Amino acid sequence: MLVAGNWKMNLSHADAVGLAADVVAAVAADADDVGVAVCPPAIWLDAVAERLRDSEVRLGAQNVHPAASGAFTGEVAASMLDDLGVEYVIVGHSERRQLFGETSAFVAEKVRAAQAARLAPILCVGETLEERESGDAEAIVLAQLADSLAEVESADLVVAYEPVWAIGTGRTASPEQAQAMHAAIRGALAARFEEGEDIEILYGGSVKPDNAAELFAQPDLDGALVGGASLDAASFAAIVAAARASMDADDAC
Ligand code: 13P
Repeated sequence: MLVAGNWKMNLSHADAVGLAADVVAAVAADADDVGVAVCPPAIWLDAVAERLRDSEVRLGAQNVHPAASGAFTGEVAASMLDDLGVEYVIVGHSERRQLFGETSAFVAEKVRAAQAARLAPILCVGETLEERESGDAEAIVLAQLADSLAEVESADLVVAYEPVWAIGTGRTASPEQAQAMHAAIRGALAARFEEGEDIEILYGGSVKPDNAAELFAQPDLDGALVGGASLDAASFAAIVAAARASMDADDAC
């Protein structure tokens, strides 16, 4: 399982470093099966990397450009992230698709570039409220997934199902809605890659300490991509604790 915090465009330098230190302290435990990662704004990656050194908490970035280098003002290449010790990179987040016009074809380029630099892409997919209400959410999400994996050969990635209507709204998908979509995504990944059914599928969209346990109880939820609640170390740690508890419950079965 993996619990990753997407800090989005929040926090000063001092606050980012402070939160990283608080997260390290709050989630401290023996190495277990729940991976924990934080994804700060790009400009704070280096400072946060320093704070995470020698801890179990991994570093992720929120974006990457597919080109190796060149005239792409304001962009960051995968090799630069790798240089800083970044292990994950979020690609295809709905905010980037909607606000910055990123297409699935462009997202697929990012997946390939990240993998080539040994970063694990966290590939986000999800439907809008209109799409959900149309009854076609599953077909739309699976098409987005297939297009965002164009010419991708490696199964070294993480997928995050983030229904757009649940992001930052306080309105989360029900455990049943999330499970149904995760199962469909798992089926598509199994058909797409030899080891596809082992790809971790995270849920994202208003995950909080009080709804995490029921989401993690679903068989095809392998963790969470957390926005707002990841900005508070205690809330984030409570979500990590819920993931650990769900793994312990699985082990007991
Ligand atoms: P919230 O947890 O704030 O809804 O954000 C989810 C998200 O977009 C994570 O990438």
